[in-house]
Amino acid sequence: MNKLRRIVRAGRTIAGGANILCAACCIATLASGPVLAAPQKAAAKSVSLKSAAAVKGRYFGAAIDPALLAEPSYRKLAAREFSAITPENAMKWQFVEPAEGAFNWRAADEVAAFARSNGQKLRGHNLLWEDHLPSWVANGRFTPAALKALIEDYVGVEVARYKGVVYAWDVVNEPFADDGGWRRGVLYDALGPDYIAIALRAARAADAHAKLYINEYNVERHGAKFEALYNLVVSLKHSGAPIDGVGLQSHFVAGQTPSDLPAILAKFAALGVDVTITELDLRIALPASSQSLARQAEDYRFVVDSCLSVARCVGVTTWGISDAHSWIPSFFPGYGAALLFDDGGNPKPAYAAAISAFRK
Ligand code: G3I
Repeated sequence: MNKLRRIVRAGRTIAGGANILCAACCIATLASGPVLAAPQKAAAKSVSLKSAAAVKGRYFGAAIDPALLAEPSYRKLAAREFSAITPENAMKWQFVEPAEGAFNWRAADEVAAFARSNGQKLRGHNLLWEDHLPSWVANGRFTPAALKALIEDYVGVEVARYKGVVYAWDVVNEPFADDGGWRRGVLYDALGPDYIAIALRAARAADAHAKLYINEYNVERHGAKFEALYNLVVSLKHSGAPIDGVGLQSHFVAGQTPSDLPAILAKFAALGVDVTITELDLRIALPASSQSLARQAEDYRFVVDSCLSVARCVGVTTWGISDAHSWIPSFFPGYGAALLFDDGGNPKPAYAAAISAFRK
């Protein structure tokens, strides 16, 4: 498909800053109406994760599934507790452009509207992820030059659409394999590690102010994968590629939270980038017991303390809100109960622990 056709289909011409904000307002008004106004006012005075984090100049965020925003209790918790949100899936390339040129921004716009109507930061997740590309890209047999042009075009379109709306992007997600080698796939195989700088530069060209991150897991302790990411940030900085931050996903097992975390955060920050915990959860072998929930609470406290120990750690985000909708049970059978709210949306011991860590 030629570039002009992609641009027109992507809606770039109608979705610049003012238009998307206007669309966002309309969706928000329709979806929430004035009903949210009163509870929000009341909650502003009470303790919440976001108010506790704000005392220390941090945000507290959560990943959001727009399909669940229709549930009043989910919506209420998302608005009351969190000052930043990340779409769990809605901004991923495979959902935004499932077929070439067939852009679908509905779910992503819905999350953007929700964030705006609640005064929350919006974290864009994610632009490129080798493991979860749309099938037409993964199977596309593009030449390196064509793939480079496609990356530049796609990244440019998505970042421009949310210019001034998304405050930070996970530009590249999970570039490394667990052994510290590069994650293989069509991007790496065609372009080598250059695909990362290509994407960063395209994102910067589309929004000069959005913070540009690389997001990775299993780098929260010392080891080959941490070294690989560290060296990548060093080399991107050295080459002048625009890299502003490192996101540590932090999918942990309660009781095995890496004690290296504060040191790892400090090492990245010392390279001159922001750091943040992007996808925190602490899974427990089911059924959870009062002991395992207490252990989990201490681990949540440790993660918040770790972030607070590093000036450039800008905030903490959990990967979901309540245990009812977490990705954990389906990906790690036998595990669950990983978040701060239980299946009924009630705060768990970890909730109080996280808040008290910010307030001490
Ligand atoms: O929406 C479709 C639905 O239409 C279809 O019928 C169904 C059939 O499989 O799939 C649905 O999409 C699923 C989607 O979640 C929404 O539920 C995808 O198959 C499934 O792969 C997708 O999983 C997501 C995964 O990333 C891959 O994109 C998880 O929800 C999401 O929690 C997970 O999040 C990742 C972060 O992005 C990166 N770090 C790790 C983290 C956990 O894996």
